Amino acid sequence: MPDQAKPSLADATHCVHAGEERHGTNASLTTDIAQTSVFVMPSLDELRRYAEGKSKSYMYSRYANPTTTVAEQKIAALEGAEACVVTASGMAAELAMFMAICESGDEIVSMLDLYGGTTKLFQGVLPRFGIRTRLVPFTELAEIERYFSDRTRLLFLETPTNPTLRCADIRQFAEIGHRHNAVVAVDNTFATPILQKPLALGADIVIHSATKYLGGHNDLTAGAVAGSRQRLDTIREMVKFTGGCLDPLGSFLLIRGLKTLEIRVERACANARVIAAALRKHPKVGRVLYPGFADDPGHDIARRQMSDFGMMVSFETKGGGQAAEKFIDSLKLWYLATSLGGVESTVSYPLLSSHVGLTDEQLKLLDVSAATVRLSVGIEHPADLVADIEQALDRT
Ligand SMILES: Cc1ncc(COP(=O)(O)O)c(C=O)c1O
Repeated sequence: MPDQAKPSLADATHCVHAGEERHGTNASLTTDIAQTSVFVMPSLDELRRYAEGKSKSYMYSRYANPTTTVAEQKIAALEGAEACVVTASGMAAELAMFMAICESGDEIVSMLDLYGGTTKLFQGVLPRFGIRTRLVPFTELAEIERYFSDRTRLLFLETPTNPTLRCADIRQFAEIGHRHNAVVAVDNTFATPILQKPLALGADIVIHSATKYLGGHNDLTAGAVAGSRQRLDTIREMVKFTGGCLDPLGSFLLIRGLKTLEIRVERACANARVIAAALRKHPKVGRVLYPGFADDPGHDIARRQMSDFGMMVSFETKGGGQAAEKFIDSLKLWYLATSLGGVESTVSYPLLSSHVGLTDEQLKLLDVSAATVRLSVGIEHPADLVADIEQALDRT
């Protein structure tokens, strides 16, 4: 197993090298795909050592796999974590973490502004196991302490949020969570460890939908949880026995995606800045939600805890829902796809995807309307992306 990545290296170097060791004779320059479900034990003696927890051998790919280990070490190095476990999806990462930390009777405090799948997990699945979640509206985050009780085990944050790109102060909320003896976890999917390092800001655990920026090419469904070795040992056990492991080929795709993470993020952030500015000038566009604007409500927090303002931009069409729909249908370069974080620029319509079926009151609390359009900015040339947006807006 390769040594843990050296923490002194820069992120761009971690992206390429962390977890990988290529100095053997006849070593492949790239990580081999250990496409196997099981490993041969060299002897019964080794099996005995494995059973006693004394062996570093691989045994069964659901427990651990050499290709998967490389992906885990890369993400751990980027998040500044002691350990990481990768999973079959972001939801599998969340479920393993919640089940490892909470038991029946426990409570979770989280935000109303969450990825919709996470909200459904909190409201539809965890209650069946006796775990209750209190979701705090963004406008009430200042009073979050009211939502804690002596049963609260976990504070779960997501920042920037989807699709309104609101920002929550990780350092401040980590302090509050710890004051209430809660484990503090952050969904770092939108920012990536290139822009934001929740563990350094005081969080205990980071989770990712690696389907998004970490994979980066819209060809992989994966997740990750990172944190201290002690916590990750428990979470890995949960993944092991609930079966949400990532397969070797998926792990290889994740490794390959991670190699260019830093450079993709840098380019997409630069593109997002150009697109946000072009939208803001456009007469058919209302509010533009982008924490990079100095007057955006999340700007100061984003400046403090992120190294750039992200690759997502949301906006409202002045012509309401009809104009938003016409805009989306008129785009030629931007694909209508509900995911995000790939090299391709994509557009999504929250009202019919992440926020489908919500009441007017719920939408109001989330600050989402029929006019809201979400853009995941890719790495194409910014002039082409802006030209496509402008021709589509002209048709509204
Ligand atoms: C912020 C966030 N967290 C978690 C998830 C769930 O990840 P996955 O779709 O990989 O299960 C998503 C998916 O869209 C997401 O956007």
